[in-house]
Amino acid sequence: MNNSALEGRPVRESRSEYTQVALPNDANILGSVLGGHIMQLIDLCGGLAAWRHARKPVVTASVDNISFLHPVRVGHVIILKSSVNRVFNSSMEVGVKVWVEDRNTGEVHHTSSAYLTFVALDESGRPVSVAPVLPETEDERRRFEQAGRHRDGRLLTRHDSSCSK
Ligand SMILES: CC(C)(COP(=O)(O)OP(=O)(O)OC[C@H]1O[C@@H](n2cnc3c(N)ncnc32)[C@H](O)[C@@H]1OP(=O)(O)O)[C@@H](O)C(=O)NCCC(=O)NCCS
Repeated sequence: MNNSALEGRPVRESRSEYTQVALPNDANILGSVLGGHIMQLIDLCGGLAAWRHARKPVVTASVDNISFLHPVRVGHVIILKSSVNRVFNSSMEVGVKVWVEDRNTGEVHHTSSAYLTFVALDESGRPVSVAPVLPETEDERRRFEQAGRHRDGRLLTRHDSSCSK
C-alpha cells in the first residue's frame, strides 16, 4: 500500500512550537543545560508535528546528527519549532530548529537544528501510509527537495549497517 491515493496536507498544518524555561534539574554542575534534555525536547516537538500531520500515533525511527552551537544556561528560554518536510510513505522527515533566548537581554541565538524520521503506526502497531505533504512556500519546497536527498543518505547508511552485521 502507498500513500498516492491520500489527499495532501499543507506543511502549515503540522507546524508546532515548544517553549520552555531551562530549570536547574535540566543542567550540569556548571549551569549549562544537558544536551540530552535538548534532544528530548527536539523529539517531543518533532513528534508533535508528525502527529499533527498524520493524525495517527508516530514513533521516532531515527535522528540525524545534532550539533549544539550555543550554550543554554539555567534561566534561559528554549524555543523549538518543527514541521513536516516530506512524507515518503509511512515515514516522514520532520525538521526541528532550536533557539535560546536570554530573558534578561532578549538576545536570541540559534543553537541546534535536527532532522528526525517518524513512522506512523496503525492500531496493530504496523507502519501505515500517511497523506503527502504539500509544500507551498519557497522554503518549504527547498526543504522538501533536501529531504529526498537526506532519505537517500539514510537508506544507504541503513543498508551499510545491516550488511556489516
Ligand atoms: C520504525 C519502525 C516502526 C519501522 O518498522 P519496520 O518493520 O522496520 O518497517 P518497514 O521496514 O516497513 O519501514 C517502515 C518505514 O520506516 C522507515 N524506516 C525504518 N527504519 C528507519 C530508520 N532507521 N530511519 C529512517 N526511516 C526508517 C522505512 O524507510 C519505511 O518508510 P516508508 O514507509 O516511508 O517507505 C520499527 O523499527 C520500530 O518500531 N522501531 C522502534 C521505534 C521506537 O520505539 N522509537 C522510540 C525510540 S526507542
